[in-house]
Amino acid sequence: MAPEPSAHLKDLLTVGEVTARTGVSASALRFYEAEGLISAERNSSNQRLYRRHMLRRISLVLAARRLGIPLAEVAVVFTTLPADGPPSHRDWVRLSRVWKSELEERRLYIMNLERQLTACIGCGCLSMRSCDLLNPDDRLGTRGTGPVRLSEPD
Ligand code: FES
Repeated sequence: MAPEPSAHLKDLLTVGEVTARTGVSASALRFYEAEGLISAERNSSNQRLYRRHMLRRISLVLAARRLGIPLAEVAVVFTTLPADGPPSHRDWVRLSRVWKSELEERRLYIMNLERQLTACIGCGCLSMRSCDLLNPDDRLGTRGTGPVRLSEPD
């Protein structure tokens, strides 16, 4: 059921109102819109107007940025949010679980890098053969030294 026109108009915020409420610049709003994170409507003067519930989405974008979640990943999870209303408590619980799991993955990745770097500090060999940090995922290294691909028959 479509909302009453007066209720619908009350629900709309100008770019200035949204920037004042969120601290996000107008250019950032346009960028978020282009990335599919938020959406705007246009009035008869072609002025961009945002539904009030976009404030909640923008808050989620800002939270994700603080957590270091790439906007492309935010856009993916936002496709699961309701398009015509604010995210619910349940939506936020689900999103925060996804992002917590991503933070945990990143934490483990950084811990692994830190472990490798600590080994280098104690070593200093700069070996392309044995240093995991200088030559990670060295799959060709198991087949010999030098330009392995060039020396192999076709
Ligand atoms: S420099 Fe020797 S293990 Fe990295």
